[in-house]
Amino acid sequence: MVAGASVHTAGLRRVFDKGGVVIDDLDLEIAAGSFVALLGPSGCGKSTLLRLVAGLDAPDAGTVTLAKNARVAFVFQDAHLLPWRDVLHNTALPLELAKVGVTERLREARDALAAVGLADASDKLPHELSGGMRMRVSLARALVTKPDLLLLDEPFAALDEMTRQRLDDQLRELWSQLGLTVMFVTHSVDEAAYLAERALVFSSRPARIVADLLFELPRERTVALRAEAVFAKEARGLRVALEKGGA
Ligand SMILES: Nc1ncnc2c1ncn2[C@@H]1O[C@H](COP(=O)(O)OP(=O)(O)OP(=O)(O)O)[C@@H](O)[C@H]1O
Ligand SMILES: [Mg+2]
Repeated sequence: MVAGASVHTAGLRRVFDKGGVVIDDLDLEIAAGSFVALLGPSGCGKSTLLRLVAGLDAPDAGTVTLAKNARVAFVFQDAHLLPWRDVLHNTALPLELAKVGVTERLREARDALAAVGLADASDKLPHELSGGMRMRVSLARALVTKPDLLLLDEPFAALDEMTRQRLDDQLRELWSQLGLTVMFVTHSVDEAAYLAERALVFSSRPARIVADLLFELPRERTVALRAEAVFAKEARGLRVALEKGGA
């Protein structure tokens, strides 16, 4: 059982030559094992923040501190699969890059594919998959490294509503089984309330936290919950916070 990694930022600042100040003096505390949704107007700096947390980009000031030896995985909006590799070998890629032996990495990749319900698709090529399946491969490829922290940047935004809801369920299930920390960027209020325990709402640039909400919802999330009054209430609270933030 993975405990999940905590995330702490202090005085985080990121300035782009032409873009100006995107993140300014941001302090953030994310508990190990939590599921946090990040929302805010387009261009406010959510992807920038995720990239800073992942170490894909460096801050101009301030620090990002992750729990010791935390393993981090990133899921982008596009699946970013290698078109000439089958599903199994796309999934195994991070382990191949980490020089894990072939037997072990293929075993781990098969496990990760089973976890996202794609055990039967291992020998397919990306172009033979639906958009939802491609995203699940992308998720499996992130899980194969057994991350303590999983960063997702609008992963399901391009999918149809039913597929998106199914993947929401799968992600939530994986999170509760694996105990990892999740930071999930979305523009969907319903998706945020359904998936997360906590939502951070950012203002337009530079990104400041305008609301920090804890959802009072059962740990067990089912499709039926989406239609319940408690869910509508939490989603409404989040929507109000977003409107205040100028989204
Ligand atoms: N590498 C870069 N160089 C210059 N400007 C950048 C760079 N990356 C991001 N920006 C600028 O930083 C701002 C924040 O971008 P970011 O992608 O973090 O926003 P976002 O909140 O993820 O938006 P969206 O919801 O549309 O995805 C934007 O104004 C963008 O143009
Ligand atoms: Mg973005």
